[in-house]
Amino acid sequence: MKKLVVAIDGPAGAGKSTVAQLAAKSLGYTYIDTGAMYRAVAWKTLQQNQEVTDELIVDIVSDISVVLEYKGGKTFVYVDGKDVSGEIRTPEVTGIVSQVAALRPVREKLVELQRNMATQGGVIMDGRDIATNVLPNADIKLFLTASIAERAQRRYDEMKAKGYDVDMDQLKKDIAARDKADSEREISPLVQAEDAELIDTSDMSIDEVVQAILDRCR
Ligand code: CDP
Repeated sequence: MKKLVVAIDGPAGAGKSTVAQLAAKSLGYTYIDTGAMYRAVAWKTLQQNQEVTDELIVDIVSDISVVLEYKGGKTFVYVDGKDVSGEIRTPEVTGIVSQVAALRPVREKLVELQRNMATQGGVIMDGRDIATNVLPNADIKLFLTASIAERAQRRYDEMKAKGYDVDMDQLKKDIAARDKADSEREISPLVQAEDAELIDTSDMSIDEVVQAILDRCR
């Protein structure tokens, strides 16, 4: 069977990474979490212990190695050879990642890496601009969304499980702010591609969404 290229975009907390990972496992495909790559640049920026400015971010991205590895159904992220898979998920990183992702030099570098990872096919890539910009010729294009209440609840459960003390109202505000920043930025904003199929996952279980993706692939 032909090895497909599957593009999944959508706003924060739509559940993209969870379902994409499970669908990739079932198909024997590679899962590519592009958000993790923007988070990697944000993480290295924070390591400098300096005021986070666009200049600093651009300086950081000019000399960084970001490597994604998908093994045993899990994504590992390496910055300059160091495994930062856990550290890129902190609220501090989340707090600056949209600023990082809005900068052209950052996007140019990471999009090139992302395209190189998809050349062999057999990949599910998720992010914000995959169908519109990174892989416009993808075989399957999906736009996953859910209500803000549902997305906040999912992120709340995820952060609680990791031991963070989270405030639901603040979380909703943060998600809405990130959606706004991602949708309104000048370069490759978050938008549903004209030829992408919209899936509202608000009332769907994880298994149902995974099944919906697999159905499109078969
Ligand atoms: O998992 P979560 O929904 O929190 O977000 P993520 O997929 O880890 O992405 C983090 C951030 O990276 C997003 O809010 C965007 O600012 C940026 N991003 C992007 O600009 N383009 C992508 N293809 C993927 C992520």
